[in-house]
Amino acid sequence: MSNKIAFIQGSPRKNGNTRAITAIAIASAKEEGAKVTEIDVTNLNFKEPGCVGCQKCQQSQEYVCAFNDDIAKSVATLPDYNVIVLATPLYWWSYSAQLKIYIDRMYSLSKISDLENYQSLLAGKTLALLATAGGPFEDNLELLEYQWKKPANMLGCLFVSCLFPDTTQEAGMLVGDPSAVEKAKAFGRSLALT
Ligand SMILES: Cc1cc2nc3c(=O)[nH]c(=O)nc-3n(C[C@H](O)[C@H](O)[C@H](O)COP(=O)(O)O)c2cc1C
Repeated sequence: MSNKIAFIQGSPRKNGNTRAITAIAIASAKEEGAKVTEIDVTNLNFKEPGCVGCQKCQQSQEYVCAFNDDIAKSVATLPDYNVIVLATPLYWWSYSAQLKIYIDRMYSLSKISDLENYQSLLAGKTLALLATAGGPFEDNLELLEYQWKKPANMLGCLFVSCLFPDTTQEAGMLVGDPSAVEKAKAFGRSLALT
């Protein structure tokens, strides 16, 4: 059975490097037979930017965010996929703010308040990170990678990443680098076959 993959795009720069390299990974995953859905968080409307900690999702039997806005509706579809990929530029050694709003709403997919008996609809899935950064700094994407690896491990997910830690900041130019393109293609293939 072919893998169902959700690529969650968090780059606000429409012609930027994150979107360009993500497109290559997506094409490669599709070539391997994966069914791919793209979720552009920068286009989703929301009533509140992120989670307000109301805990209604934890008290409910259902796994939904009480806000019932575009972000909540999109997050509620994630259990349909085997693989969930976060795509983001590195902003201040973290996710873009647009993506963080979405990630915080993913709280509704787990019952985490009882840490000894928590349950998650994400358990058993592959959670992946595709990230670009623009600086010649040592271990530039290490912090960001850890931020996603840690919850992935806690939720019982496999974690994989594809990182471009020192790219040109010129919009879209990353895909002019053959080694970057090959890396993105290999990542897309591996996601399809996970
Ligand atoms: C607001 C902002 C914050 C950034 N913070 C970092 C950073 O902390 N470290 C870094 O190496 N690059 C940083 N960058 C550069 C971007 O991560 C890099 O250029 C990235 O590849 C841009 O992706 P995009 O083309 O999809 O916009 C920052 C860029 C912006 C606009």
